[in-house]
Amino acid sequence: MQRQPLVIANWKMNGNRHLTSQLAEALRESGALLNDVSVVVCPPAVLLPAWQSEVFYDDVHLGAQDVNEHHAGAHTGEHSLQLLTETGAEYVLIGHSERRQLYGDSDDRVRAKVDAVLAFQEQKLKVVLCLGEHEHERDNGETFTRIEGQLAKALANVSAAQLAHVVIAYEPVWAIGTGKTASPQQAQEVHAFIRNWLQQRYDAAAATVPLLYGGSVKADSAPALFAETDIDGGLIGGASLEPEAFLAICRAAQ
Ligand code: G3P
Repeated sequence: MQRQPLVIANWKMNGNRHLTSQLAEALRESGALLNDVSVVVCPPAVLLPAWQSEVFYDDVHLGAQDVNEHHAGAHTGEHSLQLLTETGAEYVLIGHSERRQLYGDSDDRVRAKVDAVLAFQEQKLKVVLCLGEHEHERDNGETFTRIEGQLAKALANVSAAQLAHVVIAYEPVWAIGTGKTASPQQAQEVHAFIRNWLQQRYDAAAATVPLLYGGSVKADSAPALFAETDIDGGLIGGASLEPEAFLAICRAAQ
């Protein structure tokens, strides 16, 4: 099955209104050149209203970098699904390694967030489930064990019908922000493992799930990565803060 190529920008805690205008303008100007790829921008949540005021004529969407699993209430500093959808978010990153390592997102909390987003389906939000191994796990030959554990726990309550609202991003922790990109072969091997795991559990529904690679993707490394059979696009950090580099990565995904 041919899946629509997908490239997601994760600005993390970076960017501002000026860069919002710059990248939005660059995306509008490149519209015709990007008609075979879906582009999602995940700015810091406080910049979503600024992005929402930008007009796009093409397949450009907005996303959030995280979400609280509760509907509303006494959760100071957090963001609810309702408020994120009101500011234009159609995708939400869940389980990013920085949330897991720095802000205590356990496998159980990741599952609770996945379940909350998929239960909120009147708003048609898509989950971008982030997973990946640490360097010591790869060195010890534990990569697939780690990936399988993250998949099984995060998707424990997810049905085949709900997979239509799920994207998976493989981001080896040792490649995030380090400049050490996984080789196309290393990434393809894990993507093939994820695709096979999904097929074993969900049968034909698995084919609809885009599998993205993230971890130091740059304009020069993107073409070889995206040429791999089971790599449907990328989750881009640092390079998404440079409009020309990000556009080059989007074009490479087509
Ligand atoms: O979510 C994407 C991010 O973790 C990758 O960051 O800077 O290595 O592209 P970077």
